[in-house]
Amino acid sequence: MTKWFSAGLIIVAIAFISCNSTQNENSTTMAAITKKDWGEVDGKQVYLYTLTNKNGDVVTISNYGGTVTFWTSPDKSGNKSSIIIGFDSLSTYLQKPPYFGALVGRYGNRIGDAKFTLDGKEYKLAANNGKNALHGGLKGFDKVVWNATTVSDTIPSLTLTYLSKDGEEGYPGNLKVIVQYTLTEDNELKIEYNATTDKATPVNLTNHSYFNLTGDVNNTILNHSLMIDADNYTPVDTSLIPTGEIKPVKGTPFDFTTAKPIGRDIDSVPGGYDHNWVLNSKDGSLQKVAVLSDSVSGRSLEVYTTEPGLQFYTGNFLDGKFINRDGKAINLHTALCMETQHFPDSPNKPNFPSTILQPGQQYHTETIYKVVLNK
Ligand code: GLA
Repeated sequence: MTKWFSAGLIIVAIAFISCNSTQNENSTTMAAITKKDWGEVDGKQVYLYTLTNKNGDVVTISNYGGTVTFWTSPDKSGNKSSIIIGFDSLSTYLQKPPYFGALVGRYGNRIGDAKFTLDGKEYKLAANNGKNALHGGLKGFDKVVWNATTVSDTIPSLTLTYLSKDGEEGYPGNLKVIVQYTLTEDNELKIEYNATTDKATPVNLTNHSYFNLTGDVNNTILNHSLMIDADNYTPVDTSLIPTGEIKPVKGTPFDFTTAKPIGRDIDSVPGGYDHNWVLNSKDGSLQKVAVLSDSVSGRSLEVYTTEPGLQFYTGNFLDGKFINRDGKAINLHTALCMETQHFPDSPNKPNFPSTILQPGQQYHTETIYKVVLNK
């Protein structure tokens, strides 16, 4: 066992800021990580971790599914409602909401006909989305209990590890996954994904947080404005599997190269946006790829990633079945996802960037969501 797997759960309170009892514009909070018992799944203890940075931003994350349940960063009037939809109790997450806040793997998004061929061998996956495989299968990484450690540093950080066994959900190879969440002093939620395998396997890890920058699901996200730095996207068939084409966004409703309200062209896209944008950044370095803004709250969310794709999903399947922590129904288009990723169905699309991780290789991607306040 490697040391990251054998490490126990540690709680570290981080005190790095000189305490100033005077409340003023520049006053700072004590950065910290705390944890509380949150229940039990599969005989394993589930915790809810609270990360607080020196500005008083708070993010809560569970080791069940690596789920981000809450993120407050004040709006321009100082209101502190969460910009991520979610629930206060583990029992609601066990009712299988559609990947709210979750870590998604082994393969984020769809694999067509729930199968792929690798090195001459066909692998069959569970068809959990019509005839296709979605988000890692029946029990993907969003539904398992991860091991957790907190890092003793000046910045609150939570490291989650999971060993996905050879054959789990039909995928080959023992995959060791390490995901590190960090809440920085610049109000960024940084997510670093690492993995190694002992057999070649597809890997495509992402986070499925649903954002509403107003902090109130009574508002849809159709008035949010969005810029995506992508000149192309991957069109899909009726079951949301890419056709394999890479098409220009210019002159289509998919053109977000200049910021525009999400609702402006959405009616021309049957079902709403649920597509992969081919990001212009191509060299794998960390780049700003999208900016989401809400003028009412004054909040913007910048997205940085090393990934080549972004799944922009306008909550088209949200139907009011789940009730947000504030008691309000989570209805159609009341939240959106910006899932940084490789392209859907890459294992069956030789012209897409490869998602195959080989033994001896290190999978490493990084994504940052950063809240910026425009006063
Ligand atoms: C992704 C998919 C959507 C949907 C959601 C979960 O974003 O692309 O089609 O399955 O996850 O509901």
